[in-house]
Amino acid sequence: MALRFISLISCLLLFRASLMDVALSQKAYVVYLGDGLTDLDEGSVKSLHSSLLGQVVTSEIGAAAERLIHSYTKSFNGFAALLSEEEAEALSEMNEVVSVFPSERRELHTTRSWNFMGFPTTSYRSVFESDVVIGMLDTGIWPESDSFDDTGFAPPPARWRGACEANHNFTCNNKVIGARFYHLNGNISDDNIASPRDSDGHGTHTASTAAGRLVPNASLAGLAEGTARGGVPSARLAVYKVCWDGEGCSDIDLLAAFDDAIADGVDVISLSIGSPISRPYFSDAIAIGSFHATKQGILVSSSAGNNGPSRSTVANFAPWMLTVAASTIDRKFVSFVELGDGHVFQGTAINTDGADGKLYPLIYGANAPNKSSPGSASRFCSSGSLDGQRSKGKVIFCDSLSTGSGPLRAGAVAAIMETDDSNDVAYEFDLPVSVLSANDSAIVRRYINSTSHPTARVFKSKGLFDGEAPYVVSFSSRGPNPVTPNILKPDLTAPGVDILAAWSPISVDKSSVTYNIISGTSMACPHVSGLAAYVKSFHPKWSPAAIKSALITTAFTMSTTKNADAEFAYGAGHVNPLSAINPGLVYDVETSDYVKFLCGQGYTAGELRKVTGDSSQCTEKNNGTVLHLNYPTFALSVPRGKQFSVTYHRTVTNVGVAKSTYAVNMTTPLGVEISVDPAVLSFEEVLEKKSFVVKVWGKMKNDSVSAALVWTDGIHKVRSPIVVYPSD
Ligand SMILES: *[C@@H]1O[C@H](CO)[C@@H](O)[C@H](O)[C@H]1NC(C)=O
Ligand SMILES: *[C@@H]1O[C@H](CO)[C@@H](O)[C@H](O)[C@H]1NC(C)=O
Ligand SMILES: *[C@@H]1O[C@H](CO)[C@@H](O)[C@H](O)[C@H]1NC(C)=O
Ligand SMILES: *[C@@H]1O[C@H](CO)[C@@H](O)[C@H](O)[C@H]1NC(C)=O
Ligand SMILES: *[C@@H]1O[C@H](CO)[C@@H](O)[C@H](O)[C@H]1NC(C)=O
Ligand SMILES: *[C@@H]1O[C@H](CO)[C@@H](O)[C@H](O)[C@H]1NC(C)=O
Ligand SMILES: *[C@@H]1O[C@H](CO)[C@@H](O)[C@H](O)[C@H]1NC(C)=O
Ligand SMILES: *[C@@H]1O[C@H](CO)[C@@H](O)[C@H](O)[C@H]1NC(C)=O
Ligand SMILES: *[C@@H]1O[C@H](CO)[C@@H](O)[C@H](O)[C@H]1NC(C)=O
Repeated sequence: MALRFISLISCLLLFRASLMDVALSQKAYVVYLGDGLTDLDEGSVKSLHSSLLGQVVTSEIGAAAERLIHSYTKSFNGFAALLSEEEAEALSEMNEVVSVFPSERRELHTTRSWNFMGFPTTSYRSVFESDVVIGMLDTGIWPESDSFDDTGFAPPPARWRGACEANHNFTCNNKVIGARFYHLNGNISDDNIASPRDSDGHGTHTASTAAGRLVPNASLAGLAEGTARGGVPSARLAVYKVCWDGEGCSDIDLLAAFDDAIADGVDVISLSIGSPISRPYFSDAIAIGSFHATKQGILVSSSAGNNGPSRSTVANFAPWMLTVAASTIDRKFVSFVELGDGHVFQGTAINTDGADGKLYPLIYGANAPNKSSPGSASRFCSSGSLDGQRSKGKVIFCDSLSTGSGPLRAGAVAAIMETDDSNDVAYEFDLPVSVLSANDSAIVRRYINSTSHPTARVFKSKGLFDGEAPYVVSFSSRGPNPVTPNILKPDLTAPGVDILAAWSPISVDKSSVTYNIISGTSMACPHVSGLAAYVKSFHPKWSPAAIKSALITTAFTMSTTKNADAEFAYGAGHVNPLSAINPGLVYDVETSDYVKFLCGQGYTAGELRKVTGDSSQCTEKNNGTVLHLNYPTFALSVPRGKQFSVTYHRTVTNVGVAKSTYAVNMTTPLGVEISVDPAVLSFEEVLEKKSFVVKVWGKMKNDSVSAALVWTDGIHKVRSPIVVYPSD
């Protein structure tokens, strides 16, 4: 697949646009020029950008200089500019240019969670933890939170080159050692602050999950009470605010943040941001930024997305990224409902106050329509649909899930909502709510009909033990990989459901709280970012791929009984912090291996030379099939009913005991044959590499087949899942 200019507008629209004011048809584009910065100073790179732009921008439309929004000059080469579609197309034809794509808007996708995954406060820690810097690309941070108190912290590591753009009243400290913000195109709207300060809450939450210090007795109004902490409480944070309230996160800002974070010297980048649209690797700002980060030894840990449970929804699937799904922990929040007839139901929700334990009259939303707003569906309790007089002081039953703004506006004291989804996440609402299953809801509806004065009460939420945890939550995006079907994504799963962490007290969503409970793969990602930093603190020289391999091959295995999508839900399984620092063997990958892989994906030598900035060649010999990329997992897509037989090459590096012998142990399900040669690997030295060949053959039936290859020396278990699945 060639790196083509991506058009969002059809020819017809293009024709119409040319009839309108030309300025209107300009929008922000990224022009990506790859690497190749080594011989150039910043000034020369910028004048190169202006000159490229000057070749396509005609003077009657506006001077080239005015169209240049930003030059990326530190870690990779490119620029952002306001362009018409024709200009973008012209640029994409130029020799120097790898790709041109419109700047897209992206979405943002404790306490208990760490103990749950076998990582107690007392866990063994490296003295180098305080040298590790995690870069957070998010909504900023609330630096005054207790989670970011720097008492006892030494000054930043000497190699740190970042900056604190201390706008307004924002100041960094020895915990939050860097902070920048990016809003390159257009003015910052009034509900946002032109500063790294977080007015949303999301960035404060993810930063404290990755690296917040220990804060005893944290809770949301008593819920989830305990010690809040991040994965690496001694590590440093560098904040890059790229997401804005009401606007999302734009590609041109994301790339500017990558450009700086790489040059500043972060060790891990945590990115809880994505897009539901999948693109070729070098027309995707996140894939581009993370490729250059990986090339500089920085692991990018990212969220899989919240578009599950449909298949092929996974985002951030480039093989150089770590892609994290979201799963439950053993605490779930329930909200009990009691009816006047004594019936009690266990619903799901986070109520910090609950109606005060009294029974209130219960009505069905359908029976209280707002007469001034005919046609609005009061049975769903949408905002404005309910009659204030009839709803005031009552509990409203609603046929679907909503924020609760309808019942709140109508003066209700609480609401009961029906959902036919899996109901596996507890959300906060505008008033006390309990969310019930379709079956329980049917009983409530019958009760309302069967009595003249129905009543109900909704209680404050409780945290209950959930013995079925962990399982991947329904919203977590699923594989297979939409662009490279033979690379397994997501890579692994981590807690992302009902997570308590620090919050911005000026958040529009939930103001005046300093710790909040929210859910998303956004919450799972910083757990793994923190653990990547944890591994890095023990093994400062490991490559991003080695750290990634350690996290993947040591993951706790998960069961298909609660996860019908198996590896497409959880990848290799649930992250296992303590084993990840001692994996025994790692599957390492160098930049040149990614280049081989990309050759095999059809990218040309010319394109790859620009991207890598070196003399990368795509020759027949160098034409790496995806099967030989040294990935720590295996995926294979095959048409139904077809015989298949493939060979994978892999190389492991000994990072355990010098003299050690690993033997292979396979779990081979029916329908697929697997052989490994050699079946025993003997090492004499640390960092010694050994290669082996894996053959997988059989006939593709209707269902996916999961197997696993485990190298074991009796102590370590280096496990790689193998998934063979029908390609349609
Ligand atoms: C800093 O400024 C913001 C916005 O102006 C304000 O909301 C916030 O309370 C201030 N924070 C502190 C700690 O002074
Ligand atoms: C942005 O702000 C500047 C200066 O306040 C103003 O002149 C300009 O009109 C604003 N632009 C937009 C698009 O609002
Ligand atoms: C913990 O916080 C709760 C409420 O937030 C408070 O009632 C309680 O006294 C605190 N406990 C300790 C030991 O500080
Ligand atoms: C009922 O509808 C009218 C007209 O849309 C609206 O002004 C009013 O706020 C609604 N009442 C409630 C309680 O939502
Ligand atoms: C709901 O009720 C139906 C019919 O009684 C039953 O078959 C089904 O298993 C119930 N579902 C759940 C989730 O309990
Ligand atoms: C409740 O009663 C109404 C009319 O009396 C009827 O239309 C409706 O189907 C009944 N609902 C249930 C759940 O029984
Ligand atoms: C590499 O392999 C791909 C896919 O088989 C093919 O499209 C491409 O032309 C090959 N390139 C070279 C340089 O051999
Ligand atoms: C191989 O795997 C099986 C099943 O998982 C297990 O029972 C057995 O102990 C393993 N053998 C070795 C040598 O680890
Ligand atoms: C396999 O799938 C096809 C098409 O979805 C279906 O017609 C066939 O019955 C399935 N076979 C089995 C054994 O499930």
